[in-house]
Amino acid sequence: MSEGKTDTGAGKDDKALLRVHDRELELNVLHGTMGPDAVDVRNLYRQAGVFTFDVGFTSTASCESKITFIDGEKGMLLYRGYPIEQLARYGDYLETCYLLLYGDLPTQDERARFEHEITRHTMVHEQISSFFRGFRRDAHPMAIMVAVVGALSAFYHDSTDINDPYQREVATRRIIAKVPTLAAMAYKYSLGQPFIYPRNDLDYASNFMRMCFAVPTEDYHVNPILARALDRIFILHADHEQNASTSTVRLAGSSGANPFACIASGIACLWGPAHGGANEAALKMLMEIGTPERIPEYIARAKDRNDPFRLMGFGHRVYKNYDPRARIMQQIAQEVLAEVGDPNDPLLEVARRLEEMALKDEYFIERGLYPNIDFYSGITLRALGFPTDMFTVLFAIARTVGWVAHWREMIADPQRKIGRPRQLYTGPTLRDYVPMTERGTGLSDAVHHRNDPC
Ligand code: ACO
Repeated sequence: MSEGKTDTGAGKDDKALLRVHDRELELNVLHGTMGPDAVDVRNLYRQAGVFTFDVGFTSTASCESKITFIDGEKGMLLYRGYPIEQLARYGDYLETCYLLLYGDLPTQDERARFEHEITRHTMVHEQISSFFRGFRRDAHPMAIMVAVVGALSAFYHDSTDINDPYQREVATRRIIAKVPTLAAMAYKYSLGQPFIYPRNDLDYASNFMRMCFAVPTEDYHVNPILARALDRIFILHADHEQNASTSTVRLAGSSGANPFACIASGIACLWGPAHGGANEAALKMLMEIGTPERIPEYIARAKDRNDPFRLMGFGHRVYKNYDPRARIMQQIAQEVLAEVGDPNDPLLEVARRLEEMALKDEYFIERGLYPNIDFYSGITLRALGFPTDMFTVLFAIARTVGWVAHWREMIADPQRKIGRPRQLYTGPTLRDYVPMTERGTGLSDAVHHRNDPC
């Protein structure tokens, strides 16, 4: 660890030595301001004709970034240097957005202006509602989100030129403002209820709740305790450095694709159960377990190498200690259940007991497996009134600002290059084309054992 260092780039005496075949190479060691140093392998292929091999990027820093820092051993998460605990306690989501985008907490005037600009962009082009009507009513809202967020580039051509700083600012505001509107529309569409227009006098979370839960036939009063809980949930999910969906956004953006298309790619990646889909999967798992008596059976399954089952909401690529967001999420769950549900909700009890038992188990201790943010978020979101298939959508709303902040950072980086990894090829070596008449008849084993997809 090189905590506290302020220099970036290689120091004169800071070299890593690498022997490849018969050659010895000197590689620069780069220092960040916090976190592990990085060996600079950018010229390795040119110098030695070899690649590095790192499936899943477990030891690869894919870029330089000033936005978010995680120390997975200590369970620390900082946005622009500020601890997540302080932001979730004292801050709100919109100022967190400003912080992630611009590097500092806003002054009062900056805050007021930013809020005004976001709330004045919350409506979507009216024709988008016709676009919605092409979907099946039972479509998963994440499927709809991938499509409609990508489609924004078809409605807002005037903010797709990535080389124009003004258009980048407009796209930033449009995306952050409109994603909740689209998410609420996806929900309303699944219910067969009319879309509810945004209201500019409400804060970000309250406006979203109203667009989801209000109906035109009666007044809807947003419960401020629940709105504050949702706002804090948004803060917790706002960014998480180079996670899978953010890296996807960066990779898509590295080709020069427009920001709406890039954010749609992030939403697609987030949907997977190993990433944002885990909150939905964690709640389903807790419901399946049902009672504390069945917990040992599920722990045994999670430990069984022959069973693909994993404890959902447990484990993390970076955190090998308690995910700091999971602690805050547990508190929010209690507050929300005290307000609208049962503070002794049996599922909360199952979750607590499962956590307790897993954390005492050698299997989980050895591997550094702790609850992650998704472990308690499903219980909380359900108590807030959202159905399970909206959980990942809520995550997407919150993470949108992180994706946009990283996309902006990448576009502004003079070192920007198209992302283009290489591979360790293990396929057939050079061979000549065989004409059909010489290939014989019959089915190969691979075809024979395949299930017919029709
Ligand atoms: N339950 C049981 N065993 C687990 C779990 C789990 N949830 N997570 C990891 N392990 C085990 C693995 O089987 C492996 O064991 P082994 O060394 O005996 O083979 C070891 O721990 C390391 O696991 P990896 O899969 O190599 O860890 P990786 O960093 O690739 O995966 C991940 C991280 C995907 C999050 C994983 O822990 C997981 O699948 N968790 C459940 C899904 C989940 O909660 N995802 C949410 C992540 S947070 C987020 O996206 C907001």
